[in-house]
Amino acid sequence: MTDPTRRTILTLGSAGAVGGALALVGCAADAPSPTGAASSPPPTLAEETPAEPSAAPDAPALGDDIAAVADVPVGGSIDATINGEPALIAQPTAGQVVAFSAICTHQQCVVAAAGDEFHCPCHGSMYDAATGDVIQGPALDPLTPIGVAVSGDRIVATS
Ligand code: FES
Repeated sequence: MTDPTRRTILTLGSAGAVGGALALVGCAADAPSPTGAASSPPPTLAEETPAEPSAAPDAPALGDDIAAVADVPVGGSIDATINGEPALIAQPTAGQVVAFSAICTHQQCVVAAAGDEFHCPCHGSMYDAATGDVIQGPALDPLTPIGVAVSGDRIVATS
């Protein structure tokens, strides 16, 4: 084998330099600019995450005002509407407030407040206003609770 000529070395050197330059260009395309700013701004959280409702459509929003505590007699109950649906609110002891769906678990009639009980007009089921439990059938299952709390002198949703 002959010794490489100066021309051969320069040619190989040039090709290596070009390859190196191409490699650097390839790296530069992925690297941030010298100022540290990318060629386009990164997406914001709002652009990456589609808006979603914060609660189920049939549930009252957290903190929604439902009624005044004074509207519900201590030891009694009232008919109410929560998020457009019939509901029952009771205050078993002063400052303790509970709420239930007024839809009877027997055949879906609207149950009415009756002091410390709830009565269904359709087939006579009776529920305990403090717990929503069945006192008398034909209903077998308790009323569905609705999350509420007392905030100042108001009853507000908790779920
Ligand atoms: Fe309420 Fe039948 S629907 S008792």
